[in-house]
Amino acid sequence: MSDDLVHAAKEAAVNAHAPYSRFAVGAAVLLEDGSMVTGCNFENASYGLSLCAETVVLATLNAQGKLRQIREIAIVGGTLNRREIRGSSPVRPCGRCRQMMTEAAQLALRDIIVHCASADLSVVEKFWLSDLLPLPFGPSDMGLVQDD
Ligand code: THU
Repeated sequence: MSDDLVHAAKEAAVNAHAPYSRFAVGAAVLLEDGSMVTGCNFENASYGLSLCAETVVLATLNAQGKLRQIREIAIVGGTLNRREIRGSSPVRPCGRCRQMMTEAAQLALRDIIVHCASADLSVVEKFWLSDLLPLPFGPSDMGLVQDD
């Protein structure tokens, strides 16, 4: 199952709009019913507006009303060249994406498994989100009780 998820993330990466960095990233989320949802990075000529693949897939899940169903996420990235991605280093989520994933994990009331893979799939690391972002900021830090 996690093999399928990593492959889905790699497939999604080829659709990245990444003409500025030439670095394509794909993300695939596994839901509790076994289905998968994918996303890829979406860059902008105003560089700072660019969206990471994880952010895109999480926003898609939100739009589908499925954020609470998240169980695992796979991230694959590498240099984009003619719809192929290359590279042997795993992509670990940036800090903003870790925080975004934590929002979903808190809604789902569970920790999330994060698979970080290289484009050539020679390295696939597996982490708990809570290890990637310990002591996250959340609703309780604002004195809010999470009820919806
Ligand atoms: N990127 C992601 O999509 N996810 C990450 O976790 C790290 C970086 C994207 C953003 C940008 O389009 C490109 O990779 C280079 O930073």
